[in-house]
Amino acid sequence: MDYLQIKGGSKLNGKVKISGAKNAALPLLACTILSKNRVTMKNVPNVKDINTLLKLLLNLGSKFNYEKNCVDIDSSTISNSMANYDIVKTMRASILTLGPLLSTFGHCEVSLPGGCAIGQRPIDLHLKALELMGAEIEIKQGYIVAKAKKGLKGATIVFDKITVTGSENIIMAAALAKGRSRIVNVAKEPEVIQLCEVLKEAGVDIEGIGTDELIIEGTDRERLNLKDFSVIPDRIEAGTYLCAGAITNSGITVEDVIPEHLEAVVTKLEEMGFGLYVSKDKIMLKPAKKIKSADIITSEYPGFPTDMQAQFMALMTQAEGVSIVEERLFENRFMHVSELQRMGASIMLRGNSATIQGKIKLYGADVMATDLRASSALILAGLVAEGTTKIHRIYHLDRGYENLEEKFKNLGADVVRLKE
Ligand code: EPZ
Repeated sequence: MDYLQIKGGSKLNGKVKISGAKNAALPLLACTILSKNRVTMKNVPNVKDINTLLKLLLNLGSKFNYEKNCVDIDSSTISNSMANYDIVKTMRASILTLGPLLSTFGHCEVSLPGGCAIGQRPIDLHLKALELMGAEIEIKQGYIVAKAKKGLKGATIVFDKITVTGSENIIMAAALAKGRSRIVNVAKEPEVIQLCEVLKEAGVDIEGIGTDELIIEGTDRERLNLKDFSVIPDRIEAGTYLCAGAITNSGITVEDVIPEHLEAVVTKLEEMGFGLYVSKDKIMLKPAKKIKSADIITSEYPGFPTDMQAQFMALMTQAEGVSIVEERLFENRFMHVSELQRMGASIMLRGNSATIQGKIKLYGADVMATDLRASSALILAGLVAEGTTKIHRIYHLDRGYENLEEKFKNLGADVVRLKE
């Protein structure tokens, strides 16, 4: 198994190009199930989660070619509607095949994704919405067995809670349903918006894109003619590199981003004393005179993203004074705390709230990656720690960060991948 070795203390500088967003590419790949033609997706990040979903699509019957961040895929050849446990267990986002398989074929079996390091992560809202659209759903031997013999029907769905993949599943289901769907309290994340835009380009009548209510006129199982597109930049990867600049108090620039998608992150970094200069597709971070403490409360977009919580917590260890992080989305998303404590951080946990005392000197240590974003927080801590940090189980990082060591090295960090 690989691990990352980081020697702390280097200042960073330079530019880093941001890859396509994993969390946008995943639903967009699933959406090709709705298509009757071959489609080319550009700017697809070469990360483990994308390869896992491609493997699942291959297993279902899709044909594709994946080279240089470009996926040329034909899912009109799908003949099987069973997403099996062996692949689904390795990635929760496989649940994104449920809506498209059911609306296209009128039946499917998708393995239940199971538990996860950041919390329970139920999928009840996905299932409830599909039932409202006429699906009969049973859970049998660990599989969601869903049927809609005459196809799904448009319906009014009011989500009890905002769910990103739940919204994406239902949007894809509604695209091929019979009649009109009204989806209320739908997620407004940029990744959800891109999915809607790609469906709209393919001729699906969608109103309300970017608001919390969508009206979708389904095609009554007429498969779509998807047009080629390029995946939006990864706002979480960009935020992670901005935090790398911030924690080392260095000047760096993230390129190929959509700054509007990073407003909550940029505003928080400004509040902490950094200079942020935003242009069309770049954000430049300038060092702070003094890194100030701050509080964050995670919420749905456009609020502060839960996927940036761990990285900011690492940064807060280097801020003067006390910072508070309140995690409102996932009850267990504090797995990085004990590892940061191993490096000397002073963090007190109570329920869904963490109190971080800064500024504390961190020391290199052996630490364990537990989930994707928790692991990136450990890299950030390693960059300022005295001595050497070894991060084990980095397969979590490989799920979502493309060319990670190379990008860090180009910024001047001493980060290498080694074998255990
Ligand atoms: C998406 O997960 C992202 N994954 C996550 O990214 C991200 O952390 C999360 O949204 C929140 O922004 C992908 O896009 C592939 P949710 P998702 O359904 O859709 C509750 C990363 O590191 N809920 O929006 O699974 C749920 O428990 C990751 O890249 C229900 O109660 O998250 C949570 O409290 C990890 N019932 C809240 O809603 C449901 O049926 C939001 O979860 C569904 C969700």
